[in-house]
Amino acid sequence: MRFARVKPLDAILATAEKKSLHRSLGAIQLTLFGIGCVIGTGIFVLTSAGAQKAGPGLMLAFAIAGAICIVAALCYAEIAAMLPVAGSAYTYTYSVMGELLAWTVGWALVLEYAVAASAVSVGWSGYFSGTILNEFFGVQLPAWLAAGPLALGGAPGGLINLPALVIALLVTWLLMIGTSESAKVNAVLVAIKVTALTAFIILTLPAAEAEKFNPFLPAGVFGGFGSGVGAVGAAATIFFAYVGFDAVSTAAEETRDPQRNVPIGLVGSLLFCTVFYILVAAGAIGASPTGGQPIFGPNGIPFPAGSEELARQCALPQYSEWLVCSNEALAHVLREIGYSSIGNMLGIAAFVALPSVILILLFGQTRIFFVMSRDGLLPEKLSTIHPKWKTPYIVTALTGAVVAVAAAFLPVGALADIANAGTLYAFMMVAIAVMMLRKTEPNRPRKFRTPALWLIGPLTIAGCIFLFLNLPFEAMIVLPVWAGIGLVIYYLYGYRHSHLGRGIVEVPEAEVDMLQPNVAGIGGEGPDQRD
Ligand code: ALA
Repeated sequence: MRFARVKPLDAILATAEKKSLHRSLGAIQLTLFGIGCVIGTGIFVLTSAGAQKAGPGLMLAFAIAGAICIVAALCYAEIAAMLPVAGSAYTYTYSVMGELLAWTVGWALVLEYAVAASAVSVGWSGYFSGTILNEFFGVQLPAWLAAGPLALGGAPGGLINLPALVIALLVTWLLMIGTSESAKVNAVLVAIKVTALTAFIILTLPAAEAEKFNPFLPAGVFGGFGSGVGAVGAAATIFFAYVGFDAVSTAAEETRDPQRNVPIGLVGSLLFCTVFYILVAAGAIGASPTGGQPIFGPNGIPFPAGSEELARQCALPQYSEWLVCSNEALAHVLREIGYSSIGNMLGIAAFVALPSVILILLFGQTRIFFVMSRDGLLPEKLSTIHPKWKTPYIVTALTGAVVAVAAAFLPVGALADIANAGTLYAFMMVAIAVMMLRKTEPNRPRKFRTPALWLIGPLTIAGCIFLFLNLPFEAMIVLPVWAGIGLVIYYLYGYRHSHLGRGIVEVPEAEVDMLQPNVAGIGGEGPDQRD
């Protein structure tokens, strides 16, 4: 019976205990880490796609997505503090619902981490081409090198997004050679991002005009199943702006007083981002001379964000300056209202800070593959550690190559929607796992207990399903197709090679180092580098 392949909790905890990390992180460091993972392409770039879906209702969209992430974070906090090991949602599911479902979660996490890394690479590319090349060097990248092909939702004349390809490969190389991002670098990058967004809010809010918010919900609240428009359609897309907070949960083992600090770190960073995002959206829509209203198709429904039709409209002179057409939404608004140099500085902030989000996401992906291959569900060759770099270089190189190709050809909005589909599935499974563990392991010590789990758990599950059903149909369909491919691979490979299936539950000592989450040095390999 496949569902019977449940990894014993004690074996997972033994992995964690083989190397206990120094408990050095407090609430503030955790919150900073969370903000570092979360603020990225979602707010800097997808603000345009969100406005195309919901107009000023984008503000409501940020509130909806933020609220769902906060309840999901409360569930994550309990299980993360209880099972502080790498692999996050995949490992949690393995211990509660068994190997088959764990495999589907691990497989879906590829969408969360790898596809999200592609999306952030494309987002970075917009700021690189617009601010760095164009504004500073006066160089206009030829259209065919600046975006993916129109047929896939790129720009007219686009063929390949060269900057996105290059940044994804560069970050992959940094990870392969074992580059780590220290807590100090993370703090500096957080300061840069927060300063840029604060400057944006301070300059745009006073310039906001009330009439720009009217109509507030031009595409309604519900745009209809699979349409991806309306306030909840926008919420399903800009959910991406919150993706990555679960990385905080993997820091539970390095946290002082996790009962108090993990939930503060998770909820604190999300609350901070939610308020910030709503203010940024208000400033962008209220101050933009063209406003934040969508471009409507002949049927009275906004053109789908990232669609060929929208790209054609945006190429027309009357729309080219609209917020919903910009690849660097926030810098664009500042330039439009006369703050060109500050707009350029915001562009530099995005240029400098977004690669660290790519690094965190790619790091998360390679470690999940690493854990899956260590469990025998993927070929063990993948988890080979480089003798000098001490990194799982094979899986990192393969993942990075795929991330780079996806970034080269696909548009940011579609990539973000696909990443969201996988993430929502993983969040839902975590909420189910937390509730099941309360029943099956009621007496096991919990360093943090989700308050009112009877309410928060079902709310998380309902919220994830709700957002999923409001994604564009094309993104929604990717999840079952991807799961189908995953199941074929599982039955052809994982089922027969699974260590658990073969009665092996031990973790080889040499590999333990690779598995530990290490917040104080993301990408680093252990406490040695931090001491
Ligand atoms: N939340 C991250 C971003 O918006 C993934 O870039």
